[in-house]
Amino acid sequence: MQGDEYLPFLRRILTSKRLEHSLQVRGVMADLAEIYGLDREQALVAGLLHDAAKDLGEAEWAKLVAEAGITITHEAERDYGHSLHGPVGAYLVAKELAVSNPLILDAITSHTYYGDVGSFDAPLSWCLRFSDLLEPTRDWSRVSWLRRNVPRLRDAAYGGRLSEAAAIQTGSLIGWFTELGMAIHPNMHRAWAEKSAVLGVDESFVQ
Ligand SMILES: [Fe+2]
Ligand SMILES: [Fe+2]
Repeated sequence: MQGDEYLPFLRRILTSKRLEHSLQVRGVMADLAEIYGLDREQALVAGLLHDAAKDLGEAEWAKLVAEAGITITHEAERDYGHSLHGPVGAYLVAKELAVSNPLILDAITSHTYYGDVGSFDAPLSWCLRFSDLLEPTRDWSRVSWLRRNVPRLRDAAYGGRLSEAAAIQTGSLIGWFTELGMAIHPNMHRAWAEKSAVLGVDESFVQ
């Protein structure tokens, strides 16, 4: 399967649970590539590599942040587990695996909503964000926003309704993060505003 050449690298730097998650995200990306007419190789590689940096220790990732010149422009971007592992992962796979396709790198950078990348709104980037929540080993039973809305997200994403899926995803994440008192990235707010306007819905759509 596409991306298998990267497995020895991923086995070295990911926990077995994260590797399983990455493989499952690649599987969902294979389904969504068909539905959205994505380049299959790009989709599978982005899915497999999206969390490449997530299990690095702080000393390692801080070094990569400095080396890559990754900037923090919003409070939400300080959080490594929720945000910064996106751009660090893109830098890492470019450096270590010679991945150079800008669509793949932008999708990895912005799967956490981080930054200001040209392809933030590309179908590949959205499909990666959907797959990250939809992969079947994820257990959302303790997160009410996602327990409620992930089945709807699956229905919209697999139904080819990208704007609807993006609105469900961003609206649910904003609701969840607000409840937790977490900073919310402006990209998430902007995406929710744009997609909910396309659909003509308000917050009650995800409540
Ligand atoms: Fe991630
Ligand atoms: Fe992930």
